[in-house]
Amino acid sequence: MEPTVPDDFERMWAALAPVGRSASSGGYFRQPFTTAERELDAWFTEQAEARGLRVERDEIGNVVAWWDAGHGPGVLTGSHLDSVLDGGAYDGPLGVVSALAAVDALRERGVVPARPIGVATFVEEEGSRFGIACLGSRLASGSTSWDDARELRDREGIAFGDVVAGGSSALLAGVATYVELHVEQGRDLVDRGAAVGVGSEIWPHGRYRLDFAGEANHAGTTRMEDRVDPMLTYAMTALAANKQARLAGQRATFGRVEVTPNGTNAVPSRVTGWLDARCATDAALAELVGAISRQATERAERDGTTVEITPESVSVSVAFDPELAATIAADHAGGDWPIIPTAAGHDAGILSAAGIPTAMLFVRNPTGVSHSPAEHAEMPDCLAGVAALADTLERLTR
Ligand code: GLV
Ligand code: MN
Ligand code: MN
Repeated sequence: MEPTVPDDFERMWAALAPVGRSASSGGYFRQPFTTAERELDAWFTEQAEARGLRVERDEIGNVVAWWDAGHGPGVLTGSHLDSVLDGGAYDGPLGVVSALAAVDALRERGVVPARPIGVATFVEEEGSRFGIACLGSRLASGSTSWDDARELRDREGIAFGDVVAGGSSALLAGVATYVELHVEQGRDLVDRGAAVGVGSEIWPHGRYRLDFAGEANHAGTTRMEDRVDPMLTYAMTALAANKQARLAGQRATFGRVEVTPNGTNAVPSRVTGWLDARCATDAALAELVGAISRQATERAERDGTTVEITPESVSVSVAFDPELAATIAADHAGGDWPIIPTAAGHDAGILSAAGIPTAMLFVRNPTGVSHSPAEHAEMPDCLAGVAALADTLERLTR
């Protein structure tokens, strides 16, 4: 018997489950151009070819599998296959697997699209290896230059330019619309009792590297008043960031820190911390980062240390095409799908900012937890997402 669409989704999902999974945490390590992520890339190509889709790749590692139906500019869907360090199963792969399942669903329905439909996987969406979020879609859309990207280095010092073939991409040339399905990374849909929602906007998001420098010294013999300890400046800055964000109703996180030389019995010479800040508006982001920077600088003066703040990537706010969102959300059994904002970053934001009319579909996440092994979506909600994406693609390619 031919597989039905739900079986097909579940089979694909089960095939991906072990790839890059940590036996100790149950989370995923699917960093770009590592064995696990390349296995997913090969899996995607195989799945696309099994469906008779035409696979196009760019030099950067982005892939689009085209269903060459109809004429004219295409409708692109998809997401990413990479994960954060120790991430969840859904962030990224849910959009890719749902896109393949939606193609199957359209074919089962006998739909003949009037325009091509492409399924994309964008590389290094999380920025977990080379530091810049959405690096693949930034390069493909021209919003980051190859000159800026090629020298980005991972934690081992390997350059991005050494793991990719080059920086050129023509993948987005024939794209009229992009629709990305994604697991929700908050609890908005839970609170609304809806399995599926449509994106309205993405909050602005900045990543900044803070280099705190001091003086290495002996942990036993150096009197407390003689120390020039960058750990103190860092620690106070992390507390200040949390406080400023709470006062302003925004978000600030230090999730990554490197200490040099990282020895128990020495005052460190250097601490580097990465600040992730997200706000409802661009002005609020600038204000929040300004306040944190001022407090870090003042504290460095008191500690006798120095702090240098370098923006690594800043994404401005994105409002998705409101008419497209309203069209997608309208008129479903049980009423319109809710239209909701997100404070998470997505390739959809990059493509939208590059002028491609873009929409997002979100699938309910029962706890809202994401970027964690605990990230989850229930299977019936995933299948509702596939149906929603198939409906959307059908509407957009009529
Ligand atoms: C990507 O998922 C981000 O929001 O950091
Ligand atoms: Mn993510
Ligand atoms: Mn994602």
